Amino acid sequence: MCMETVEVALDKRSYRIVVGRRLLAEAGRHVAAVLAPRPALIVTDSVVAQRYLPAVRDSLVAAGFAVSTITVPPGEASKCHEQLLRIYQACYDARLERSSLLVALGGGVIGDLAGFAAASYLRGLPFVQMPTTLLSQVDSSIGGKTGVNLPGGKNLVGAFHQPSLVLADVDVLASLDDRQMATGLAEIVKHAVIRDAGLFARLERDADALWRRDPALLESVVACNCRIKAEVVAADEHEGGLRAILNYGHTVGHAIEQAADIAAKHIAEDGIIYILGSGHSLITALEASGRAGGLVPIDIIFDKTFGKIERLPGYAEYLLKDYAIDGAVVIVVSNSGRNALPIEVAIESKKRGAKVIAITSLAHSQSVASRHPSGKRLFEIADVVMDNCCDPGDAVVDVDGVRGKVGATSSVACTFIINSVMVQAVENLVKMGVEPPVLISANLDGSDEHNEKLRSRYKGRLRGLM
Ligand SMILES: NC(=O)c1ccc[n+]([C@@H]2O[C@H](COP(=O)([O-])OP(=O)(O)OC[C@H]3O[C@@H](n4cnc5c(N)ncnc54)[C@H](O)[C@@H]3O)[C@@H](O)[C@H]2O)c1
Repeated sequence: MCMETVEVALDKRSYRIVVGRRLLAEAGRHVAAVLAPRPALIVTDSVVAQRYLPAVRDSLVAAGFAVSTITVPPGEASKCHEQLLRIYQACYDARLERSSLLVALGGGVIGDLAGFAAASYLRGLPFVQMPTTLLSQVDSSIGGKTGVNLPGGKNLVGAFHQPSLVLADVDVLASLDDRQMATGLAEIVKHAVIRDAGLFARLERDADALWRRDPALLESVVACNCRIKAEVVAADEHEGGLRAILNYGHTVGHAIEQAADIAAKHIAEDGIIYILGSGHSLITALEASGRAGGLVPIDIIFDKTFGKIERLPGYAEYLLKDYAIDGAVVIVVSNSGRNALPIEVAIESKKRGAKVIAITSLAHSQSVASRHPSGKRLFEIADVVMDNCCDPGDAVVDVDGVRGKVGATSSVACTFIINSVMVQAVENLVKMGVEPPVLISANLDGSDEHNEKLRSRYKGRLRGLM
């Protein structure tokens, strides 16, 4: 059988990642080669269980393991304490001991959840990862990060607990939907960008075949990504330095999800979202309000001076008197995050019970002092901070003979971020069973009626620009 093996070198906690085809049907043999047969609990979700649980269970039983199973609902919501407690109970019912085995059969949710159960039940059991999504095969099943979410945020409770074996069967990727496939490919592109230019070139060349889930190509690309992740984990197991590179893009991704969650809930409650773009950041506000593909209830807090007096303390109070921000959601966009206007809008909004979401450059902000009497910068006030990752000073290109840099980046970055929040908020609204008020381009025939109907719902509550 064709397969590749990658070693994760962590002294006594070293383990192998086996990547190949038809591995799940042979799971018992592979696991028994590492851990002698013993009582085992398979944790999976109901979607994966339907397709792959019988083969894995039969194979483990045939190899001599005494197998129990527990199935949780599919999706991120299962990465929670309620499901964790169910797994503990299943461990107890199956009379697992410290030498027994937990098997995580599923995507990253199952890997993190079952991994944390394995890290904590009886202070730690051996566990085996059998990742079934592309994301979990190239990323989450490797490196021992396990955990669950709290209502306030993702992965807030967890532990490092390395598996004894990872079995990545690329055949199961055939049943992934396109969205799930894209999620995994995004991680692969990330690995290529941070560690392997050759892989990046290969992805450009073979993108179509990968998308068609060509098994031979998948096997080699998954193995290549496992090597990248294994190398980083072996160099920095507990994320003291190098391993943080793997979080590339995640911090802003989580912030986008948090912002979208706040925005969707507020819109579902018939609220209005206000957005201030200080100075040039007005471009981002314009992108968010009254835009094709955007949400209707987004109103611009419009600074008619176009930033000319953004340093002036007290101006925000005058500006805000026309906006009903009490208990609302206020997005404040400011690249430097240091001027009085955005800071005061954020402080005043919070005073009036609004949630404040900032889009700002942390690199810039952290390198300068506040220009507001409070001494605070925008990122120190907001409830959610979305870092646009722009360089201090915004521009990035050196041109010979020119003092300073040329070519500002923040408008592009902030426009991308605000649209990402919008898309995620719309998805959330759909999941909540709320029809999202999304505008259709006025330049498409037949859109006027749709848009007018939506706007009439918010009549008199949106000031628009004028
Ligand atoms: N521990 C880490 O280092 C690490 C790294 C990255 C991400 N993560 C975590 O991973 C999670 C996301 O993982 P995910 O994207 O795999 O999501 P997931 O586990 O929720 O799986 C996505 C969906 O695909 C279904 N599915 C799984 N395998 C399938 C298959 N072969 N065919 C058809 N459907 C299948 C699942 O039932 C689920 O509905 C997040 O919670 C994230 O925080 C952890």
